[in-house]
Amino acid sequence: MSDTFYITTPIYYVNDVPHIGHAYTTVACDTMARYMRMRGKDVFFLTGTDEHGQKVEKTASAKGISNKEFVDSVAPRFKELLSVLNASNTGFIRTTETRHIEAVKHIFKVLLDKGDIYKGEYEDWYCVPCESFWTTLQLKDEKCPDCGRAVEKLKEESYFFRLSKPEYQEKLLRHIEENPEFISPTSRKNEIVSFINSGLRDLSVSRTSFTWGIPVPGDERHVIYVWLDALTNYLSALGYPAEGGDYAKYWREGADIVHVIGKDILRFHAVYWPMFLIAAGLPLPKRIFAHGWWTIAGEKMSKSKGNVVDPFAVVEELDRHGVGVDGFRYFLLREVPFGLDGDYSRDAMVGRINSDLANDLGNLHFRTINMIEKYLGGEIPVPNYDIDEKILPFNVYEPEILGLFRAYKAQIEKMSFSEAIQTVWKMISDANRLIDTQAPWALAKSDLEKDSIRLKNVLGTACQVLKASAVMLYPIMPEKMEMIWKQLGHSTLIANERIIVESTFWRCAEGQRIMPGPRVAPFPRIETERIKAMKAASEKGEKKVGRDAPGATKAQSTPTLPSPLEGGGSEGGGLIKIDDFMKVDLRVGKVLDAERVPKSDKLIKMLVDIGTEVRQIVGGIGKAYHPQELVGKTVVVVANLKPAKLMGIESQGMLLAAGDPDTLKLAGFEADVSPGTKVK
Ligand code: MSP
Repeated sequence: MSDTFYITTPIYYVNDVPHIGHAYTTVACDTMARYMRMRGKDVFFLTGTDEHGQKVEKTASAKGISNKEFVDSVAPRFKELLSVLNASNTGFIRTTETRHIEAVKHIFKVLLDKGDIYKGEYEDWYCVPCESFWTTLQLKDEKCPDCGRAVEKLKEESYFFRLSKPEYQEKLLRHIEENPEFISPTSRKNEIVSFINSGLRDLSVSRTSFTWGIPVPGDERHVIYVWLDALTNYLSALGYPAEGGDYAKYWREGADIVHVIGKDILRFHAVYWPMFLIAAGLPLPKRIFAHGWWTIAGEKMSKSKGNVVDPFAVVEELDRHGVGVDGFRYFLLREVPFGLDGDYSRDAMVGRINSDLANDLGNLHFRTINMIEKYLGGEIPVPNYDIDEKILPFNVYEPEILGLFRAYKAQIEKMSFSEAIQTVWKMISDANRLIDTQAPWALAKSDLEKDSIRLKNVLGTACQVLKASAVMLYPIMPEKMEMIWKQLGHSTLIANERIIVESTFWRCAEGQRIMPGPRVAPFPRIETERIKAMKAASEKGEKKVGRDAPGATKAQSTPTLPSPLEGGGSEGGGLIKIDDFMKVDLRVGKVLDAERVPKSDKLIKMLVDIGTEVRQIVGGIGKAYHPQELVGKTVVVVANLKPAKLMGIESQGMLLAAGDPDTLKLAGFEADVSPGTKVK
């Protein structure tokens, strides 16, 4: 395997504003770059801007400014996006830079001198927005087959590249066959192979119809075709054609060279680009990964529809909630398997952040660290499984973590981000379950030695899972994982560790202490509009805070929270008939939101979804639970209790629980049950 790793985004057209599509490729490449650095590779991560072409020329003239003035005014916005996304790129190239212009002229000349570029005459259909020529046969309903817009007939003198050369085509087809990952995902391979086999015509690589481009050396009426210009950025940014330096280091035979692009520009990257390289006698990239496209709430994103997702605004909102850019990065890579199309909506993103980050990961982090502080004086215990059995569930112990880590590595290296994240989540979910089932808060109360060993093993195991998760999720959420890492008592940065090696990097060292509080929660829960509206309604004293409730139950008795059910209607010996029991309407509920009642250490105010409506329930569970732990929990609600006020706040039901106020546990279910289901 190569010790260098060169990864690139497409260079972005400056006549567009930065949007979610640009953010997507950048985040994916950044994740790969960070992961490969952790593996000890020497990484070059390149991105940049594509600044030539007829569209830019048209926009600039419409604005009444020079082309150069226009590109200089818009290119910085793409650089800003990189910093907002926390991209760790090592290079940024603009196609208007001299180093790039010289490189393009050079490669053009090399191909011209070899006879692979020649001068001829061109007549065909041209699509201005796509800057592409089409044959009559290729047109779809007489329109551009790519974008569906009108095309115009164009005849001009042009330089041509010998794309039709059988020797080059064979070479490319062989390369595709011998390198199964060259076109990724592999499902896209056939479309490229059949395009090559359909018979390639020589490609026009110069234009005389506009001037905003790189002139053909020695024939300045022509400018070099934008795609030959743009694709060469992958070389020019490394210093090509100068021998040595980054170019020699990252662009060599056998080196890891990965171009990440959107599916719409695969042909340019998987056919034209390798053909240029073959003709110029240069090594080919190892992999071209074409990702899918985002639609916006089910619709194609477009300026005219006004639904373009502005990544600056998304991150700004997440920053306001304390979630930051990492929530966006996580959503982009988790929501959709890389390679497939996906749908973006704010609700989907907030849902993902709340359920995965605030609930699952946030809970594990919060509970583990707090309990280590509370029960073990802040010292992270090193689990010792020799003196205590391993307790179910399983994905939290070293051999299993190693297995998951290997799966994760293979998935990330294939750029299967969503799968890799799900692999990490197996540990996170099981660690949460371990805490739920082993109840460290109860173990901490026990005087038995076996319980104190168990307490240490449970919290030590949870800590190892947290540590392993922080490292494995670091490439995706660098800022927040550094924060967790620090709270686990590390004085180094994950970024500076070369820890993705098959060791047991998740082990906590003997005597390691967590960072003393107060601590910031890495992923505060984002209040959805629905919860906000419900809270506002409940504050106004409206009874029903949620959906309308056809057939919703009527509250009947007093919610003294939490108290054992009283056996109303009991007969001799305290026994009741089934009919009496059936009078109690028990429902499955899901806690949507929870916060402490001010000035009370016991009461927590919750919004609980009971299927037909959302109830505000006040429970005396604040000594045993932190509000953050409650959100997302499935609980049992006594739904037909008469509403009552606790410290002036109305409670519309009660949760079933058992135990003393300090150690009390809510009743729940072994597996997920939908809110509203009757409990019998
Ligand atoms: N300038 C060319 C690339 C030249 S690379 C040598 C270009 N630029 S672009 O700005 O139009 O597109 C950049 C990338 O954004 C492409 O990979 C494209 O697929 C991607 N996306 C544009 N809209 C998108 C979505 N709605 N969703 C995901 N990615 C999308 O093409």
